[in-house]
Amino acid sequence: MQAHLVTLPGDGIGPEVTAAAVDVLKHVAAHHGHDFRFSEHAIGGAAIDATGEPLPDATREACLAADAVLLGAVGGPKWSDPNAKVRPEQGLLALRAALGVFANLRPLKVHPRLAERSPLKTERLKDVDFVVVRELTGGAYFGAKTRDKERATDECAYTVAEIERVLRRGFELASQRGRHLTSVDKANVLETSRLWRHTAEQVARDYPEVHLEHQLVDSMAMLMLTQPSRYDVIVTENLFGDILTDEAAALAGSLGLLPSASLGDHHGGLYEPIHGSAPDIAGQDAANPLGAIASAALLLRHALGLEAEAAVVEAAVEHVVEHGPWTRDLGGTATTSQVRDAVIAALDLDEDCRPAFLA
Ligand code: NAD
Ligand code: IPM
Ligand code: MN
Repeated sequence: MQAHLVTLPGDGIGPEVTAAAVDVLKHVAAHHGHDFRFSEHAIGGAAIDATGEPLPDATREACLAADAVLLGAVGGPKWSDPNAKVRPEQGLLALRAALGVFANLRPLKVHPRLAERSPLKTERLKDVDFVVVRELTGGAYFGAKTRDKERATDECAYTVAEIERVLRRGFELASQRGRHLTSVDKANVLETSRLWRHTAEQVARDYPEVHLEHQLVDSMAMLMLTQPSRYDVIVTENLFGDILTDEAAALAGSLGLLPSASLGDHHGGLYEPIHGSAPDIAGQDAANPLGAIASAALLLRHALGLEAEAAVVEAAVEHVVEHGPWTRDLGGTATTSQVRDAVIAALDLDEDCRPAFLA
């Protein structure tokens, strides 16, 4: 298969983890007879430094024309002045809006080998396997903003159409998985949440095989830690989804492990690890690249329909989680490059996890 993939390394550890994921994709292409063309473009702080804009037109056009986009991370202290006129994060938000990727899938499983890395009791982490579907192009992130000396506002608005389309993604996913959907809101306080809850009830009628439950976001933040194995598909609005998924990363053992796929109706999608630019470890070859590599696997699956290749990459990631080497965030001493090399070596293992040359 031929595919044109745009890479957006961005800032901090973004370039380090993106390079690792691209190396894995190149390896997959070579071994499975695919022709992937990569072009790299600027976004975030790096783009502000180069052009003054966090999402230059050339980047937006290239992403719109691509079969899929792989992004590292944006942002960092250099551009974080609260009075700055332009911010790296605006580039990412503008890109999500331009691509129309309204559903952000953030899958999470807890590998038994890493359960001890979690601050939670190991027995609570058994069988944890859920996907958060985060609404990505609405809510407070995209509402009107005002600020003067004494007051600031961020409007949080949702339309029924925006709520419905992301919930449908969630229900479709749930009907292929455990048939359980938790819709998270703050319907006891927020009008947008009451519209969300009402819409969820309406959409649920089309999916009688899926059990719908509602959960308020504050208690959800607690239940996600105390009873994580109860959940299958969790659907929620933009800001709640952002916060809950970083919390969920604590279950998995490191933020550096979690991938995401941002999907819409008209584009192959935007794929990025859920972590940020990690300024505290940038430039040290110390970042965990597994979240970025797992995001590349989601790209193979969702953008290119290459399920077998996606599964091979996921199995290789799992192999490295199981046997190492591990980066510092997982308690190891390996570099980003060593972990990338181990994933690439594991890609060549057969189904019994023996190196292919022994098969
Ligand atoms: P962060 O995710 O960058 O880092 C939080 C902590 O997790 C840090 O201690 C970091 O070292 C660690 N960490 C994150 N990814 C890791 C990895 N792959 N391997 C090992 N350790 C990892 O969050 P932050 O510090 O709150 O934000 C820093 C900057 O990143 C901010 O400018 C923020 O806006 C931006 N950000 C960008 C994205 C994105 O581009 N999608 C996501 C989140 C945050
Ligand atoms: C994420 C990040 C972004 C978000 C920021 C960088 C705009 O935290 O992808 O989770 O809040 O969506
Ligand atoms: Mn986030």
